[in-house]
Amino acid sequence: MSVAEVLPGSLPRHIAIIMDGNGRWARGRGLPRIAGHRRGADAVRRTVAAAGEIGIPYLTLFGFSSENWKRPLNEVDDLMGLLRHYLRGEIAELHGNGVRLRVIGEKGRLAPDIVAMIDNAEKLTRDNGGINLTVALSYGGRAEIAAAARAIAAGVRSGDLPLDAVY
Ligand code: IPE
Ligand code: MG
Repeated sequence: MSVAEVLPGSLPRHIAIIMDGNGRWARGRGLPRIAGHRRGADAVRRTVAAAGEIGIPYLTLFGFSSENWKRPLNEVDDLMGLLRHYLRGEIAELHGNGVRLRVIGEKGRLAPDIVAMIDNAEKLTRDNGGINLTVALSYGGRAEIAAAARAIAAGVRSGDLPLDAVY
C-alpha cells in the first residue's frame, strides 16, 4: 500500500519542516551529535522521496539557520561536511526523480564550493516538473526582515524608491 492510500482526504500543497532534535536523538543513544545529524540527513532523504511519491507540490526544509553559525566550529564544520556529502551524492538522483531544487538563505555565507554545487543543482533541475524542494540554508526570519529593511533604506536614500511604494 502506498503512503497516498493510507492518508485520508486531500493533501496540503506545501509542507515546511524545521529540522530539530538531531543532537538529543544522538545523546539519548550515547552517540556524538554528528551521528544524529547523519540520521537527520537520512530522514530528509526518506521525507523527500515520500513527499514526491504522494504528490506534495512544495516541500520546504529548514536545515541550517542564520543562528546556527554560532554553534561550536567543529559542529558547523561537520554540518557543512554533511551538506557537501548530501549535495554531491543526491543531486543526480533528485534530478532523475524530477525534483526542482532551490535554496533560500544567505548563500554568500556558505563556502564557495557549496555555493557552486547549489548553483549547478538549481540550474540542472530548473525545468523539472516534480516536487519543488526548497532548502533553507543560513536562513532566518530575522535576517530576512533585516535584509529587506536594508534594501528599502538603500532604495529610499538613493531616491529610486518612493516611500509610499513600501506598504
Ligand atoms: C537539528 O538538530 C539540526 C540543525 C539545526 C542543524 P539540532 O542540532 O538542533 O538538535 P538538538 O535540538 O540539539 O537536539
Ligand atoms: Mg535544536
